[in-house]
Amino acid sequence: MPTIHISDLSPVQLQSYLNFAVAPRPICLASTVDKAGNVNLSPFSYFNIFSVNPPICIFSPSRRVRDNTTKHTLENIREVPECVINIVNYDMVQQTSLSSVEYPQGVNEFIKSGLTQLPSQLVKPPRVAESYVQLECVVNEVIELGQSHGAGNLVLAEIKLVHINDAVLDAEGKINQAKMDLVARLGGDWYCRVTKDNLFKVAKPNTKMGIGVDALPYAIRNSRILTGNNLGQLGNLEAIPGDEAIEAFALTPEIKEVLDATIGDSQTRELQLHLKAKQLLEEERVEEALMALLME
Ligand SMILES: Cc1cc2nc3c(=O)[nH]c(=O)nc-3n(C[C@H](O)[C@H](O)[C@H](O)COP(=O)(O)O)c2cc1C
Repeated sequence: MPTIHISDLSPVQLQSYLNFAVAPRPICLASTVDKAGNVNLSPFSYFNIFSVNPPICIFSPSRRVRDNTTKHTLENIREVPECVINIVNYDMVQQTSLSSVEYPQGVNEFIKSGLTQLPSQLVKPPRVAESYVQLECVVNEVIELGQSHGAGNLVLAEIKLVHINDAVLDAEGKINQAKMDLVARLGGDWYCRVTKDNLFKVAKPNTKMGIGVDALPYAIRNSRILTGNNLGQLGNLEAIPGDEAIEAFALTPEIKEVLDATIGDSQTRELQLHLKAKQLLEEERVEEALMALLME
């Protein structure tokens, strides 16, 4: 496993390692205006939400690694400290990429990319109509992280208005994650798309106190069958099931079948019970999985 000292890499090499490794990154299209009112639109994946109260997004128009020049977005924000952060979905990803071309100062990338300008309500920069979620923001602060090639400039943008397209809302007015059809940036030219098929849930541990992987018996922690994800699911349970519950579960047909088929063969029984537990974990029957693992 190579360990790399930062001083041994050029900024271009370091940027490549970091962009491939710290991914996927959400993408925003930031619209800004200069003091003459010229509109600018550019994508940023050094971007995220960092605070809900106050509601703050941060994105970073960096100094160019190539020639250390600064970006129009940053210059505009210094003149007019406002922006709209437009969240990028799959249907707009090619036009988003096109809007990243380094057109001269004053060129409106809405026009170059063919994306649609929608007037904002509170701020001067317009919104991107194709974006399902548009955040009108006032810029509180710009933090310069350095003066040389590749140095970031953190734009701390406070969200003042949130616009959400009805198309991504469910009957209760909540965002349907699958309908957002989000895309994210990876290294080089790679992107990924969040589709219904690749979404999955992980039960939140913050409402209860999971027992922890360390509380599981040695034979479970060192199972040849169970993975780290499986142990994480088991460690998220609040308690080790009691003997009565385990005995009752042993009488259910699916477990009884395993026990009956392995009488007198403790090694096969352990293997079969671990395989059964893994299957139960895949079905999110976590407590039953632990009961299967605790059977002798
Ligand atoms: C998907 C995507 C994400 C990008 N993310 C960033 C970023 O986080 N920071 C950055 O400085 N440049 C980023 N870029 C490059 C800028 O968009 C590009 O330099 C653009 O020309 C800047 O425009 P401006 O000078 O009009 O502000 C990204 C480009 C793409 C296509």
